[in-house]
Amino acid sequence: MTNQVPRTLIIGSAVTILILIIIYLFTKLPSGGESKTAEQISYSGADKCAACHRRVTPDIVNQFALSTMARAGVRCTDCHVVDRSNPMGKEHEGFFITASPTPKQCANCHPAETKQFEHSRHGGPAWVALSGFADFSADQKKTVEQIPEVNRGPNGIITATRNALFDMEGPSVTPAACQTCHSIGKPNADGSIGNCNKCHMRHEFSLEQVRKPEICGQCHLGPDHPQTEIYHESAHGVMYQTEGDKWNWRQKPGRLTTSDMPAPTCATCHMSGFGNQGTTHDVGQRLSKFLFAAVTTDRPNAVEGREAMKAICANCHSSRFVDEQYAKADSVTAFVNSKVKQANDIMEGLVKDGIISNKPFASPISFDAFDLWHYYGRTAKFGAYMQGPDYVQWHGVYPLLQQLAKVKAEAAELRAGHKRGGRL
Ligand code: HEC
Ligand code: HEC
Ligand code: HEC
Ligand code: HEC
Ligand code: HEC
Ligand code: HEC
Ligand code: HEC
Ligand code: HEC
Repeated sequence: MTNQVPRTLIIGSAVTILILIIIYLFTKLPSGGESKTAEQISYSGADKCAACHRRVTPDIVNQFALSTMARAGVRCTDCHVVDRSNPMGKEHEGFFITASPTPKQCANCHPAETKQFEHSRHGGPAWVALSGFADFSADQKKTVEQIPEVNRGPNGIITATRNALFDMEGPSVTPAACQTCHSIGKPNADGSIGNCNKCHMRHEFSLEQVRKPEICGQCHLGPDHPQTEIYHESAHGVMYQTEGDKWNWRQKPGRLTTSDMPAPTCATCHMSGFGNQGTTHDVGQRLSKFLFAAVTTDRPNAVEGREAMKAICANCHSSRFVDEQYAKADSVTAFVNSKVKQANDIMEGLVKDGIISNKPFASPISFDAFDLWHYYGRTAKFGAYMQGPDYVQWHGVYPLLQQLAKVKAEAAELRAGHKRGGRL
């Protein structure tokens, strides 16, 4: 009896100590694996910026320490320290730095990617779409003019007019709207164009992140360009959503194969090196049609573009299967073109006969005619090429036909009103 009390005490204290040790170990273990902490420690001592910023902005230093670039010996100074002549630079703790590194800094080490990006519609054309060439220097304008797919009128002359909706909404709205997405191609004061950071989020610059569709979905969504919604409906998107957590997202650039990812993401089809196609930052390289346009026409590089995209599909599908998909999509595009042309003829007739003004968005029918191609026409075409049947049908062709009926009825009413007005 006398031994009983001490024994339970001993067992009790032993259990308590064990629990405390377990809790201690759990709280001390690094959340993402031990190697990260080791890298972070060795990295932080290597850079004067990091040594101080480890206290000032520890998250930035920790994030950068996880990047492939930090492991390859790239330092804070490589992106942030600039020449004294750089208009974006300022004094900082004895250094001359920029708080917003641009493609000019990236180009020191990634010249090929920067050039491809600059020669795509993600470059200058994305900003030209808003305010024409107003914000471009002569050199920056020259770079844009060299892009084969830049907007051209029927006479081949580059069209770079200000966007009417952009001016209608004006500076109290557009910085939080149009400009947030289109700044992917904004000209910078240091002479460079665009912002790599829109896709390569700082400071991890993770390949996994940029290969996933969510990164593109920041901008490629909504009724006028629902590529993300279409992708998520497609068999490819379903594979990604149900199996994607098992894919090898970190494979080295240019080495991706079907064994890393058995179905494609946006990046695989439009950018990644895959099979016999090299990685490209020119997102127009694998395209054959101007789908965003009201009436779709072929791109200057239509034949090569289509061959390049088909070569991506060919990693996983037979050529007969792929040809059939393109034939179906081309046929939807021809159908949409014919309906949009009908609406355009109606609108041009109203302007010619002096019934409505030729100013953009001058009357309610102008908004309806805009929605017809800008929402429904585009959506049907995108759905057809990227395997989203619901977007071809119920978000595309059906509301397109409904809208055409509406535009016809409105036009007839305007003409009747105009006639009555004329007689009075
Ligand atoms: C002795 C400490 C110290 C050193 C060394 C230092 N910084 Fe800083 N840095 C700061 C502090 C403090 C801030 C202000 C943080 C805040 O506003 O929250 C700052 C801010 C910044 C900013 C943001 C500026 C802005 O306008 O938003 C950048 C970018 C930056 N530092 C980069 C660097 C780089 C690159 C280096 C090395 C070339 C460096 N820093 C060296 C302390 C330091
Ligand atoms: C590979 C290039 C690169 C490297 C290396 C790099 N940065 Fe940056 N940093 C950027 C970019 C890009 C931005 C965002 C620019 C912008 O706002 O458009 C940025 C922004 C910042 C900012 C401002 C962030 C904010 O939200 O206010 C700070 C501070 C900063 N970096 C500190 C650092 C420090 C410290 C290091 C080193 C540990 C570092 N950077 C390394 C590219 C880099
Ligand atoms: C001082 C040279 C240098 C600068 C400046 C630089 N990088 Fe890098 N970058 C590298 C090196 C080195 C690698 C690693 C290559 C490797 O290991 O395959 C790399 C890799 C990358 C990767 C691939 C990451 C991965 O996980 O494989 C991306 C994305 C990247 N850099 C983007 C940028 C961007 C965006 C900028 C400008 C904001 C930039 N880099 C500036 C040298 C640089
Ligand atoms: C959510 C991001 C986002 C916003 C906000 C946005 N856009 Fe866009 N815009 C895009 C994307 C993505 C495309 C590309 C569609 C395609 O190529 O299929 C595009 C295409 C365009 C085009 C056709 C391409 C060209 O260069 O002619 C024009 C014009 C345009 N946008 C103007 C505007 C204007 C004006 C606003 C604001 C009133 C605006 N956008 C707001 C993302 C956006
Ligand atoms: C539209 C999004 C997007 C933009 C903008 C972008 N990148 Fe990339 N980048 C990617 C994708 C996606 C990959 C991965 C390709 C793959 O799967 O291998 C990549 C990969 C890279 C790599 C790894 C090596 C390679 O070539 O594959 C580097 C370096 C790089 N980008 C640099 C840049 C630079 C510099 C800029 C700006 C001039 C930039 N990127 C702008 C999407 C983008
Ligand atoms: C920050 C916004 C933004 C992000 C992020 C973005 N894009 Fe874009 N993208 C645009 C805009 C704006 C345009 C239209 C530019 C124009 O034609 O004026 C565009 C156009 C395109 C085009 C058509 C190019 C052409 O020649 O007509 C493709 C393809 C494309 N993007 C693919 C992608 C992919 C793939 C990703 C992700 C890896 C991505 N984008 C990420 C804004 C973005
Ligand atoms: C299976 C491959 C594939 C996938 C995955 C894919 N696309 Fe596409 N995309 C295409 C094809 C094919 C076209 C039409 C090509 C042509 O013009 O011949 C296209 C067209 C586009 C366009 C239209 C450019 C224009 O002319 O207006 C944009 C923008 C775009 N894709 C972005 C994306 C985004 C963003 C994602 C992911 C959310 C994505 N794509 C996923 C194959 C793909
Ligand atoms: C990385 C491999 C890969 C690439 C690249 C790829 N696909 Fe697919 N695709 C798949 C897989 C896997 C499925 C799902 C098959 C199933 O439904 O059983 C699929 C399904 C499809 C479907 C639906 C088939 C059905 O039976 O419902 C179509 C259509 C399609 N792909 C067309 C394309 C086109 C067009 C391209 C090129 C622009 C392309 N794919 C690129 C792997 C790929």
